[in-house]
Amino acid sequence: MRKFMLYLATLSLLLLNVSILVARELDNVSLNDYLRQHGFYLYPINSPVNEGYMSDSQKEQFNQRLSTYKNIHKVLEIGLNGGHSAENFFNNLEDLELFASFDINHHAYTGCAVNYFYTKFQNRFMFTPGDSMKTVPKFIKNYPFFRFDLIFIDGCHAYDWVISDIIHCKEMAHADTILWVDDVPSDLSGPIGEAVKKCQDDGIIEIIQIHQSNHPIQYARSWLEAKFIWQ
Ligand SMILES: C[S@@+](CC[C@H](N)C(=O)[O-])C[C@H]1O[C@@H](n2cnc3c(N)ncnc32)[C@H](O)[C@@H]1O
Repeated sequence: MRKFMLYLATLSLLLLNVSILVARELDNVSLNDYLRQHGFYLYPINSPVNEGYMSDSQKEQFNQRLSTYKNIHKVLEIGLNGGHSAENFFNNLEDLELFASFDINHHAYTGCAVNYFYTKFQNRFMFTPGDSMKTVPKFIKNYPFFRFDLIFIDGCHAYDWVISDIIHCKEMAHADTILWVDDVPSDLSGPIGEAVKKCQDDGIIEIIQIHQSNHPIQYARSWLEAKFIWQ
């Protein structure tokens, strides 16, 4: 029995060392490098091969806002896609302990990005595949005590999904949680704008600011910063 326990301890130490070595190998490998090594060449704007992600000017705005926040330890994102905003959170939040992400996982490159984050960040990264309308409530049941400091909603852009994502995410928020919603027009038009307006009218969220960013090639983006309302 003693020998067996010693064997198990040695094996787990060996496995730990191997996983540290594998993670270290990605120290200087960016997400885009990794995706390209696996045959995925993605662009910030919607293209025949991928859905769009943050433009360079939006990234600057994100980072400006992140630099003003204190104590962001846990981030949740709906809509991992190719992982570009996820990588940006890891790169700009030095206290980041946990990044939990959700995606319907219809794109092959999403799986590749998931491998990258699990390898590089190990238990600081979590991925839940599937339709957020179903997976987020399940996640809440499985992890009833998780509370996130920043929640970024950028998944399905249809009205019912945006409302469902906002309402469910409130269950994983605390009094100071910051909510970001991507692609919200400043006049709150279209499905995302109307969903946000409904949540505001129903007293679920309070809009802090709608940010607009322009980029000569990657076109204009707008996104919203909000807080959940607690009675
Ligand atoms: C605009 S992309 C997200 C971009 C990403 N946040 C970034 O900046 O790098 C939207 C993502 O939402 C995912 N998605 C679409 N419908 C979804 C659903 N019902 N549940 C979960 N994810 C969904 C898509 O697969 C896609 O990867």
